[in-house]
Amino acid sequence: MSFERPNVEKMRGYTPGEQREGNDVIKLNTNENPYPASPAVAEALRALAVENLRHYPPPLADAFREAAASLNKVTPQNIIPTNGGDELLRLVITTFVDVNESILITKPSYSLYPVLASVQGCRLVEIPLQDDWTMPADFIASVANSGAKLCILVNPHAPTGTLLSDEYLTELAENFPGILVIDEAYVDFVDPDFGYDAVSLIDSFDNVLILRSLSKGYSLAGMRFGYGIGAEPLLHPMLYKTRDSYNTDTVSQRLATAALESIDYAEEIWAKIRASRSSLTAALNGLGLNTTASQTNFVLSQIPQSIGARDLYQALKDRNILVRYFDEERLRDKLRISIGKESEHAALLEAIRDIINA
Ligand SMILES: Cc1ncc(COP(=O)(O)O)c(C=O)c1O
Repeated sequence: MSFERPNVEKMRGYTPGEQREGNDVIKLNTNENPYPASPAVAEALRALAVENLRHYPPPLADAFREAAASLNKVTPQNIIPTNGGDELLRLVITTFVDVNESILITKPSYSLYPVLASVQGCRLVEIPLQDDWTMPADFIASVANSGAKLCILVNPHAPTGTLLSDEYLTELAENFPGILVIDEAYVDFVDPDFGYDAVSLIDSFDNVLILRSLSKGYSLAGMRFGYGIGAEPLLHPMLYKTRDSYNTDTVSQRLATAALESIDYAEEIWAKIRASRSSLTAALNGLGLNTTASQTNFVLSQIPQSIGARDLYQALKDRNILVRYFDEERLRDKLRISIGKESEHAALLEAIRDIINA
């Protein structure tokens, strides 16, 4: 006999990318940062003693809220710290979306969204992106008239790496009567020349929630820390009603705060990753793997039929190089490759050349 709720019994869970440890593995499959977190984070870790764990952490991570507010030029009341960006997604859905209401997303997008909608038991509306991964021309009108309670857009987009402008998001926020979540898990890697900045939207719109993650930009995926930025009335029910009593722990609060306070280090790494992204994109295109220009720390490459995406994924894996294959409509002929170190790219490209020429 099953005790699961009917929606949980029917659903499939999230499939994470493979985690493998070891110096012989080139891991380009889960968009982790190839460089370590800042020395200030290492110092904060060293400064912790087991005695610091005897007490509960500050429930609202006050020091982190101050640091995140100062970085984003908002007030601490506009910040909600969470156990990874994923917790914010779960919180926003459980707080705002009733079972008879719907969540609207694009297809493809982050594969956790449909999983969380299934857990909640609410409806999910998926709007396909166009062939070149841009938004359909009538997307804003469709969202405005959808009756959806929540629209979640990942920007820059996963898994394609494309970026929507803040003007486009402003128009969407203006026209959508529900809550617009802008999932900026990869925003740190956007080329500054775009001048992209969606944070100012929270001043004008009380229905906009921005998601941030420390996993990628700050090299802290193993720690689990993220946060939301939004108008105070929007954050209030999540901060004071639905959040776990101590949703972020003492260790991660200290390290996350140190990471934001040493942003100069992170910025240098983002620039390095952007440069590696350009050269990898050019090299993959040069090998005949049509690769979309990306604003994230990964690229999505179309694999010619003669090679086959799944076969290439497997052949690379056999050589201890992990990339991501999605067994999903429109993605089965593609591979998502995280930006790694230059030496890892060289090994990847050499392996692809070998496999193609075999
Ligand atoms: C699009 C997107 N949003 C949110 C997250 C959540 O990140 P985390 O929970 O590690 O902060 C991820 C992680 O892969 C992601 O790809």
